[in-house]
Amino acid sequence: MTFPLDRVRSDFPLLSREVNGQPLAYLDSAASAQKPLQVIDREREFYLHDYAAVHRGIHTLSVEATEQMENVRKQAAAFINAASAEEIVFVKGATEAINLVANTFGRTMLSAGDRIIITEMEHHANIVPWQMLAQERGLHIDVWHLTPEGELDLDQFASLLTPQTRLLALAHVSNVLGTRNPLETIIPQAKAAGLYVLVDGAQAVMHHKVDVQALDCDFYVFSGHKLYGPTGIGILYGKAALLDQMPPWEGGGSMIKHVSLTEGTTYVKAPWRFEAGSPNTGGMMGLGAAFDYVNALGLDAIHDYEQALMNYALEAMAEIPDIHIYGPAVRSGVIAFNLGKHHAYDVGSFLDQYGIAIRTGHHCAMPLMSFYGVPAMCRASLAMYNTREEVDRLVAGLKRISLLLG
Ligand SMILES: Cc1ncc(COP(=O)(O)O)c(C=O)c1O
Repeated sequence: MTFPLDRVRSDFPLLSREVNGQPLAYLDSAASAQKPLQVIDREREFYLHDYAAVHRGIHTLSVEATEQMENVRKQAAAFINAASAEEIVFVKGATEAINLVANTFGRTMLSAGDRIIITEMEHHANIVPWQMLAQERGLHIDVWHLTPEGELDLDQFASLLTPQTRLLALAHVSNVLGTRNPLETIIPQAKAAGLYVLVDGAQAVMHHKVDVQALDCDFYVFSGHKLYGPTGIGILYGKAALLDQMPPWEGGGSMIKHVSLTEGTTYVKAPWRFEAGSPNTGGMMGLGAAFDYVNALGLDAIHDYEQALMNYALEAMAEIPDIHIYGPAVRSGVIAFNLGKHHAYDVGSFLDQYGIAIRTGHHCAMPLMSFYGVPAMCRASLAMYNTREEVDRLVAGLKRISLLLG
C-alpha cells in the first residue's frame, strides 16, 4: 500500500502556509513536529466539553476527566508495549523524565564511587542531569566514544565496565546523526554486567515501533511534541519493580496519601507518586490523539516511507559540492551537514529566505560538536509529512549557496 502522503499533509494545516513568500518546507521536525488537526481538535474538545480538575473531585466532570487521563496512560503503555499502565509516568517531556530518574532513582540507588556510562552522542538532556547528580553524590561518568561514522564503538563497551558501574544512559536514536543504536545487542550486555539502563527515545518513537519489554530497558523516555503531539507533555516509562522502590521527587497535591503536620506525610503508589500538582491534562488528550494518529497510519508504514525519503535525500545531497554529511549511511530522521566554509547559521538564514526551515547550531549536543571539531552543524529533519519536492528544494538551495557564495 502506498503511503497516504497527500492526506497526511492535509491533516497538518501549518504545512500549507508560506514563509518569506515561498511555500514552507518544514525540515525541522526533530526539534519539534507540527500537529495534525486530530491532535488540535482533541485538545480543543477537551477544553470545550470535558475539562475539570483531575483526581480531586467526586463530581461527574472531574471523574470523567480523570478517566480520560488514565485512558491516555493506557494508550502510552500500549504504544511502547509496557507491561502495565502503572509503569507510565506523565512528565513535561524527555528532559523532565531524565531529571526525575536522576533525582529519585539516582539519589537513592547510586552512591559515592558508583559509575555511570553515557555516550558521546547524547543530547544535553541526557548529560547534564547526570553531571549534576555526579557532582552532588561523588559519582563518576564514563564516556562511550564514537567511530568517525558516528556509531558507538561497540568494542569499547566492555572496557568501560567496572564493578562500580551501575547505569548506562543512552539515546535510542541520535538527534544529530540519526544513528539508531543497536539496543538489541547493547542492553543484554549491560544487563549481564548488572547495569540499569535508561534509554532516551525522544528521537525514536516517531520513526519506528518501540517495545520496552523486548528491549528490557529499565527506563524509556520521550516527549509528546516530537511525536506530533502537544508541547509540555511526555512519558517516563519505568519498570514497575523500580518505580515502586523510588521515592517521590516533587512534593505537593495528588501524590500524597496522608499529610500531617506532626506525623509527616505518606505517599500514594507509583506512578501517581511522581505526578505532584495539577497536570497538563489538555496536553495528555492531545498526546492520546497523537498516539491514535500514528497508530492509524502504522509505524511500519511510516518507517518505510521515511526510509525511502531518507535514501532519496542522502543520494541527492551527496552530489552537492563541498558538502560534509555527518553520521552513518543507515539512519533515522535527520541529516546533519556543513557546507564548505559557510557557518551553519548563514546556511540556515539563506535557506529561510526560500521558505526552507532547517535547524542550525550545536543541537544541544556540544560534546558531539567537539568530537567532529565544529562549532555548529545544519540539520534537516525528514518526517512522515515531508516530500521529495521539499528535499529537491533543499538540495537546490544548497547548490545555490555554493554557486553564489563560493
Ligand atoms: C535525543 C533527545 N533527547 C532529549 C531531548 C529533550 O526533549 P525535550 O526538550 O522535549 O524535553 C531532545 C530534544 O531535542 C532530544 O532530541
